Amino acid sequence: RKATVGVDIGGTNTAIGIVDAIGNVLVKDNIETPSHGDVDTYIVDLANAIKALIKSLKLVNPDIEIMGIGMGAPNGNYYNGTIEYAPNLSFKGVVHLVELLKEKFPELDYVALTNDANAAAIGEMIYGGAKDMKNFVMYTLGTGVGSGVVVNGDLVYGHDGFAGECGHTTLIPGGRSCGCGIPGHLEAYCSAPGMKRTAFEIMARDNAGDSLLADKSFKELNSKMIYDAAVKGDKVALEVFEQTGKWLGQGLADTVHHLSPEAIFIFGGPSAAGDYIFKPTKESLEAHLLPIFKNKIKVLPSQLKPGDAAIVGASALVWKEMEK
Ligand code: BGC
Ligand code: NA
Repeated sequence: RKATVGVDIGGTNTAIGIVDAIGNVLVKDNIETPSHGDVDTYIVDLANAIKALIKSLKLVNPDIEIMGIGMGAPNGNYYNGTIEYAPNLSFKGVVHLVELLKEKFPELDYVALTNDANAAAIGEMIYGGAKDMKNFVMYTLGTGVGSGVVVNGDLVYGHDGFAGECGHTTLIPGGRSCGCGIPGHLEAYCSAPGMKRTAFEIMARDNAGDSLLADKSFKELNSKMIYDAAVKGDKVALEVFEQTGKWLGQGLADTVHHLSPEAIFIFGGPSAAGDYIFKPTKESLEAHLLPIFKNKIKVLPSQLKPGDAAIVGASALVWKEMEK
């Protein structure tokens, strides 16, 4: 049996899994993504964790054949195998991740890296709701907002390999400062931290000491808590989703105007809030669309299994490489 390793590099956590050809995660583990930018130690830890996983799997499944390692990371560049100037990671400048990891796995033919949202798009295309779609966009809402663009059946990389940074489109000129330093980006509004900022802004505006979110510090608050409060009818939480949906829909409309996709998939924590986020998003999308696009664009939750999706997406990059 053939399997591939999937690695999802996030701001604080790196998730690693071995995935079979139909998208089942056979074994998985986590290591810390360093907060102090120490690349060399990280590469050693990552390689050791991957080796330990392969070893543990081979104990129960001696025939398993590992085809390669696929990785997804913010600001990941597929062409260069690098992570470049990622605002939401501690690594500085350019990290040659593929080159460094290949040194640790000379026996593997395929070690590849792509943008984390691109990896999610590949996962959706191979195992998720986009199996029969040739044109779609994946939006990932998390610490940052990422996107993966599929046009005519292919993931779009563009000239330098960074195509599809939809989170860094300007939503509100001169607005909130984004992690990248530029003001007003969609990411500063529709990411998980962006939603928290919205909650705090609404509470300050309304002096909402009675909100279920009022006793939380900025650090404590997360999108699951906002969701739970919304379910209980908390006005602040309901307005956070309403407002986030309005903003997101506006951003999605730009994406539709650029690309004419069949569907936009939404992936990540806040997207687990169902209608609380999808309803205002769809309404706002329709309100911002040109007539030629109205009532045509599907906005769908990712069909990948939460928790495993990012690993599965990254692992799928290896199968894509092998097709070439
Ligand atoms: C980065 C993207 C990434 C996204 C989600 C953004 O800030 O620019 O490359 O896909 O966050 O992690
Ligand atoms: Na992307």
